[in-house]
Amino acid sequence: MLNFQFHNPVKIIFGKDAISKIGQEIPAGSRILITYGGGSIKHNGVLDQVLAALKEFEVHQFGGIEANPTFETLMQAVAQVKTQNIDFLLAVGGGSVIDGTKFIAAAALFDGDPWTIMEQWGAPIKQALPLGAVLTLAATGSEMNSGGVITRREWKVKRPFSHPLVFPKFAALDPATTLSLPPRQVSNGIVDSFVHITEQYLTYPVGGKVQDRLAEGLLLTLIEEGPKALTQPDDVDVRADLMWTSTLALNGLIGAGVPGDWSTHMIGHEITAAYGLDHAQTLAIVLPALLTVKKQDKREKLLQYAERVWGLREGSEEERIDRAIAATRSFFESLQVKTRLADYGIGAESVDHLVAQLIKNGMVKLGERRDVTPEVSRQVLQLCF
Ligand code: NZQ
Ligand code: ZN
Repeated sequence: MLNFQFHNPVKIIFGKDAISKIGQEIPAGSRILITYGGGSIKHNGVLDQVLAALKEFEVHQFGGIEANPTFETLMQAVAQVKTQNIDFLLAVGGGSVIDGTKFIAAAALFDGDPWTIMEQWGAPIKQALPLGAVLTLAATGSEMNSGGVITRREWKVKRPFSHPLVFPKFAALDPATTLSLPPRQVSNGIVDSFVHITEQYLTYPVGGKVQDRLAEGLLLTLIEEGPKALTQPDDVDVRADLMWTSTLALNGLIGAGVPGDWSTHMIGHEITAAYGLDHAQTLAIVLPALLTVKKQDKREKLLQYAERVWGLREGSEEERIDRAIAATRSFFESLQVKTRLADYGIGAESVDHLVAQLIKNGMVKLGERRDVTPEVSRQVLQLCF
């Protein structure tokens, strides 16, 4: 029997017109700062919907949070929060805006150097401003979790942090907001969600049958619906399934009580920090290589994955595992997400640098058994070409 605690305080408002309901979730009299990215919300009508829903409030705006949000930009928002006496943050965008806003929420009330928040996984914070989220990109699950990933531009360092105080109070998920996404971001979202699920599923069996079946159901949904989002880009029902899948993939539910292997993400973060690849592009490169290197340790779950997710029942165990890994790579490629470092013009000389950065960032005992040492990461990276 598994032992776990599952606590998720985020209220989800899902479906058509979800944005119109957010005013009811914010305390009356709040001075709100809307945070957003490069401006997509101005072109697709989302900002107008948000402003209409917040007519009763004093509202300010901070734009320019970049993909892979940087400490440098976020600290400008912190300054604005202080000068305008903001007491509620509303993130409107994808994972980068929501993650960045979590950091702003913590940094605005932090005593000392705010980068300290990033120096350990359970951030050393005692308070944070309340925040809500209006999601426009189905991918990260940030809308329903308490984590964020922040980049220090000057150091080329990308790190995760987490604290229960930065759970959003609510998240509005209207799948129609994702119809304006460019295909590359649609594909990125599918790959990111897929890898979040495998990182909580492809470890070793612990008797988490519910978690396993939930994970398999979410993976199958991505395999069935993901390609449709590219071939039927106006189909909002497809977007709805993808949006709910990506939220459930990383809100703690499928990971409750079971081991996790976040090494694909941690190695991927170094690739983004060093070479600027999209988050999901790095995952599509690293996951097939990691599964190949760790296939003995992950044998039982890989066989389960091969059978239940890819329907592979014929051939030796070795063949089924290899075919499941190949199917994973083909799925990513079918979404036009390349799966080799060389596809992005990155050569073998990158391996030494990436391993050195993993060591520098303390990513030296990754994986469900904490045995993905820098040497193992090196083997993984060498298979990424
Ligand atoms: O900045 P704007 O103009 O809004 O454009 C964005 C951005 O260029 C655009 N976009 C978003 N919604 C759109 C849209 N364009 C048109 N229509 C829309 N509806 O998409 C681009 C990418 O946005 P971004 O927020 O960067 O993407 P994503 O949601 O994939 O977030 C990636 C970030 O999340 C972190 C990643 O490391 C990365 O920094 N992650 C956060 C996690 C968490 N908090 O739990 C977990 C994830 O594993 C991930 O690591
Ligand atoms: Zn991710």
